[in-house]
Amino acid sequence: MSRKKIIAANWKMYKTPEQARQFMEEFVPLAAGHTRDEIVICPPFVDIAVVAEKASGTAIEVGAQNLYWEKEGAFTAEISAEMLTGAGCKWVILGHSERRQYFGETDDTVNRRLKVACEAGLAPIVCVGEVKEEREAGITEDVLRRQCARAFAGISARKAAKMAIAYEPVWAIGTGLTATPEMAAQAHALIRQEAASAFGDDYAKQLRILYGGSVKPENARDLLSQTEIDGALVGGASLKPDSFTKIVKW
Ligand code: PGA
Repeated sequence: MSRKKIIAANWKMYKTPEQARQFMEEFVPLAAGHTRDEIVICPPFVDIAVVAEKASGTAIEVGAQNLYWEKEGAFTAEISAEMLTGAGCKWVILGHSERRQYFGETDDTVNRRLKVACEAGLAPIVCVGEVKEEREAGITEDVLRRQCARAFAGISARKAAKMAIAYEPVWAIGTGLTATPEMAAQAHALIRQEAASAFGDDYAKQLRILYGGSVKPENARDLLSQTEIDGALVGGASLKPDSFTKIVKW
């Protein structure tokens, strides 16, 4: 079965609304007519409005980088799923390793956010991946299985219909190191098995699993031409319209 690939930009904590507007003004014409892959831009919360406005009427979709699981209330600084859909988001990144590393995100909180994102009709991109010490200790498989199983707990295949996974080996994020296409393909196959045991074989066959970690114009084709790799989650190289366009046009 052929799965449409997703090329997603994770801008992290970069760009003011004005810089986001400038990016979109350059990027939209460069990406015009590109329908082979889905293009998703995940800016900081305050840039969502301007990115959504500039993306409207194009095939470019907008995502957030996180959400909080409560509907509303006294939760200073948090953002709900409905706020995101209302602002024009279709996607949301969940469980990024930087959230896990610096902001106390756990497999359990990823699961809570995932449930709410699915309920709200958002398409979640759930990030999993091993740190360097785990790869060196030979426990990558266990880590990926645990992260997936716990993230998926209590969620039905129907609810998770729009979910995608990003395999991001933490040692490859922002370091210039990438997993070899073979390493990535191996991890993706394992994640697909986990998805099959949680949601069934049919679900697993259509699940899109992205690779993330130092994806650049120079390595995009090698990675994206693998059948097991259904897209890319791009950090640093998504910040400039020309380099992100080169990746989109791998
Ligand atoms: P990078 O980040 O492309 O800068 O390595 C990827 C990510 O963290 O999503």
